[in-house]
Amino acid sequence: MAGLKSLASSLRKKLHLGGRQCHSTDPSTSNGSVEPKVEPKASMSPAEPTSAPEDAPKLPEVVPAAEMVVSTSPQLLSTSLEGKVAVVTGSSRSIGAAIAKALGSQGAKVVVNYVNDSSAAQSVVNEIKAFNTKESKGCDAIAVQADASKLEGGQKLLAEATKTWGQVDILVLNAGIMGSKPLAEVDEDFFDSHFEINVKVPVFLAKAAVPLMPTPGGRIIFFSSSLTGLTPVLPNALTYVASKGAIEQVARVLAKDLGSRGLTVNTVSPGPVDTPLFRAGKPEEVIKKIAAQNPNNRVGLPEDIAPMVAFVASPAAQWINGQNLRVNGGAVL
Ligand SMILES: NC(=O)c1ccc[n+]([C@@H]2O[C@H](COP(=O)([O-])OP(=O)(O)OC[C@H]3O[C@@H](n4cnc5c(N)ncnc54)[C@H](OP(=O)(O)O)[C@@H]3O)[C@@H](O)[C@H]2O)c1
Repeated sequence: MAGLKSLASSLRKKLHLGGRQCHSTDPSTSNGSVEPKVEPKASMSPAEPTSAPEDAPKLPEVVPAAEMVVSTSPQLLSTSLEGKVAVVTGSSRSIGAAIAKALGSQGAKVVVNYVNDSSAAQSVVNEIKAFNTKESKGCDAIAVQADASKLEGGQKLLAEATKTWGQVDILVLNAGIMGSKPLAEVDEDFFDSHFEINVKVPVFLAKAAVPLMPTPGGRIIFFSSSLTGLTPVLPNALTYVASKGAIEQVARVLAKDLGSRGLTVNTVSPGPVDTPLFRAGKPEEVIKKIAAQNPNNRVGLPEDIAPMVAFVASPAAQWINGQNLRVNGGAVL
């Protein structure tokens, strides 16, 4: 281990690397805290055929193989999020709120995002802060009003995170919409509104977050739906499923690109979850029918989804990259 560390250190010196490091691989010095950060330099992978335009965002360095090798130290097997800063879009209610609380319960500092309901956001913040009184984990939270269907809104979340805590380790792109219309009724506004919040803003928010993330260690988690794997497909789901399928593909590609820079990129795809988004326009009989299709004879709860996100965000999930993680109680296989 000592040999490996010294090899990594000498490689860093030889290559004059300035990329950020989050985790020490030495359990005696590692408590999940983040080492002082150095601004990452822009670089292109040698495999990339074209050079980056002048105004391209600064990506972290590709991490040399020796530095990618991590130990099996307790810290790297940990699901603790102490010292991590998370941004969760759409997190004052429903699945996003459960995610924010799950991350906070593991010690993260969380940006809780809302559009309309500041008191709901504040109660999520209060619940997260209350974890401290029980176990003193250093978790914290702030509520930030921002429209996650607009890139400026997303950027505001990143800015608030860095202003408050100086970093972003975990980005959960949970906010989304689910309209239901067959092709004959789909117009451009309907289509574009889905692709804005379900695809475009998550992509560009991820792009903006990457230079703020520690390498190795940063985590990007997109949100899709088990509907992309459902047979038979539902005609009304055209736009929603198209947008969610798109984000799954984005995650696959980014997992390769950003994976080489020490980050992981995954998609979490819930099955039906009892939230306003799911209930909208569905009579109770339809909901019962959907529940009956699940081996558990119920639809999911936000708390069924959140633990997966907390795990994927943790150091223990360093080897989970580029996956579409379906969390649906066995409803869609
Ligand atoms: N529920 C399901 O059955 C299901 C299944 C598969 C996938 N999903 C996916 O899981 C994610 C979350 O779904 P959900 O059911 O929890 O949704 P939801 O019930 O509609 O979520 C509401 C939350 O999102 C916030 N929000 C809504 N629009 C926003 C915007 N433009 N900017 C920022 N925040 C916004 C709300 O804030 P305010 O309260 O302030 O308005 C609230 O905190 C979505 O990506 C969805 O596609 C859900």
